[in-house]
Amino acid sequence: MSINLSHRAKAIKPSPTLTVSALAKKMKADGVDVINFGVGEPDFNTPEAIKNAAKKAIDDDFTKYTASSGILELRQAISEKLLRDNNLKCNPNDILVSPGAKASIVFILMAICDPRDEIIIPTPYWVSYTSQVEMVDAHPVLLPTSMENNFKISAKQLDEALENLSNPKALILNSPNNPTGTVYSKEELEDIANVCLKHNILIISDEIYEKLIYDNKKHISIASISDEIREQTVVINGVSKAYAMTGWRLGYAAGPTEIIKYASRIQSHTTSCVNSMTQKAAIIALKECSSDVEDMRKKFEHRRDVLVKGLKSIPNVQCAKPEGAFYAMPDISYYLHNNSKGINNSVEFCNYLLKEFHVAIVPGSAFGADNYVRFSYANSLENIEQGLIRFRNALESL
Ligand SMILES: Cc1ncc(COP(=O)(O)O)c(C=O)c1O
Repeated sequence: MSINLSHRAKAIKPSPTLTVSALAKKMKADGVDVINFGVGEPDFNTPEAIKNAAKKAIDDDFTKYTASSGILELRQAISEKLLRDNNLKCNPNDILVSPGAKASIVFILMAICDPRDEIIIPTPYWVSYTSQVEMVDAHPVLLPTSMENNFKISAKQLDEALENLSNPKALILNSPNNPTGTVYSKEELEDIANVCLKHNILIISDEIYEKLIYDNKKHISIASISDEIREQTVVINGVSKAYAMTGWRLGYAAGPTEIIKYASRIQSHTTSCVNSMTQKAAIIALKECSSDVEDMRKKFEHRRDVLVKGLKSIPNVQCAKPEGAFYAMPDISYYLHNNSKGINNSVEFCNYLLKEFHVAIVPGSAFGADNYVRFSYANSLENIEQGLIRFRNALESL
């Protein structure tokens, strides 16, 4: 029997970051000494207090379904966190706790999108945004940025793009950004917010890397710019990156009552709820683990400095200094256009690097930026130093 797959299924490409990681893991299992800069997750262990809270939840038999949008105690803790860290007043009822920020974004998109609605996504973008938009039959509209403007869209650029769209619905803004590490300033966010208000579009503000920010910069949530913009913004956040909890699966969306209500309804018919013990653990993460986060943040900052210095020292490689998250995105276009190995794009280069020099990085094309490659510096200093040598040797061998 042959089954016709849906147009939706056929449109979805496999996640390139997971593909690279899987290949690197397989090579490692086969005994190859691979250095993996492909992964998008902290290499640290989840802090003890968080693990203990989950163990206690199991021992207390807190193991049943919970309210679909999350237990009230957790939504209260998130509400307190939003006020404390982001100066955002948010009623616990306007918060949806999902199995990862990834799921929160999909449920929000399902709640707001009709076929052919346009969702604006600045490039380079996190790999899943375009697929998520396509999954709900909406249309991703890509807004290019470049290293010269620090990978930021301008308010003018956004305004001009919106003038030319027929069904603009939302902007997905991601600061600190994956893959570039870009962090928007308050002034830049104010200008973007004003354009969104002018065109009456929603902002989906993905702030999952907010705690990993460097050089004494401060994260600003665009929702905190004014009451007006808060009513037009859904903030996305979660515990994966800040608390080294990627496998626990807990993220959340906070935003306008109606949107959260319908997104919660969708979640209730799909994943039901986040597993009960993770919810208990996340309360401890949000309330008690700021010093663990700070320890990890400092280590990431030091690794960033080592990695970026090393990348910048390679002839004909440009690299902006990322201000947040744990990624660096060097421009290797010179080598893609000048080599004797027939390598023409970032995928071909990354395959060559992995096979010949045993270093896994992600091709820029995965993020809509083929002149670049992405390193994750969620890796030891020793591996960063060794990986830099191999990367440089690979480029020089071309
Ligand atoms: C920008 C961005 N948003 C969301 C996520 C998803 O996070 P979660 O583990 O909470 O689903 C990631 C994970 O890589 C990410 O990089």
